[in-house]
Amino acid sequence: MRPDADCRLCGLCEGRTNIVLPDGDASSGIVFVGEAPGENEDLEGRPFVGRSGKILDGMMQDAGISRSDVLITNTVKCRPPGNRDPTPDEMHACRAFLESEIVGAKLVIGLGKSACRDLMGFDGKMSEIVNRITTIRVGEVDVRFLPTYHPAATIYNKVSREELRRTMAIVREEMG
Ligand code: URA
Repeated sequence: MRPDADCRLCGLCEGRTNIVLPDGDASSGIVFVGEAPGENEDLEGRPFVGRSGKILDGMMQDAGISRSDVLITNTVKCRPPGNRDPTPDEMHACRAFLESEIVGAKLVIGLGKSACRDLMGFDGKMSEIVNRITTIRVGEVDVRFLPTYHPAATIYNKVSREELRRTMAIVREEMG
C-alpha cells in the first residue's frame, strides 16, 4: 500500500519535495524502519541516502548484509520541517503504509526512538530495550521486532555504535 502521489493525509505534504517510499526487497522479510526522511532523502526520494544512510550502509556491509537484500523504510514518508521528530499525528496518518510494509515480516528492526515509540509504544531509554527481540501487534498478526539505535545516534557514541553493530550481527544471523 502506497500513498497517493499527491498525498495530503498530514501537514508534512506542505514542505516536501518527494514522498520517500521504501527501498530494497519487500519480499525479504527483513525491514529496517527509520524515523523520517531528511534533506537528502527528500531531494532524492529514497530513504537513508544522506549521512545516516552512509553509516547504515557501512554497518550492513561490515556484517555481510547487502542493502538490496532488505527493505528500508521510515515511520513517515515525508520530511518534517527542519528535521524535527515526526509528531504522533503525523505517524498515525502514515501508519497504514508502514503496517503494509511490515505485516508478515520475519523481523522488523526499529532504528531509534521514533520508530520504537511508533511501533512498540515505548517511550523510555533505548538502553533498556536495545537488541532485545520482542513482539509487536500489526493489525491482526504478531511481528518480531528488534529495537536499536538510530545510525545518527552512533556518530559520537561508542556504546550505541557497538550496539548497532550487534544489531547487524543479529540480523545477519536471522537472514541465514
Ligand atoms: N534518518 C531517517 O530516520 N530516515 C532516513 O531516511 C534518513 C535519515
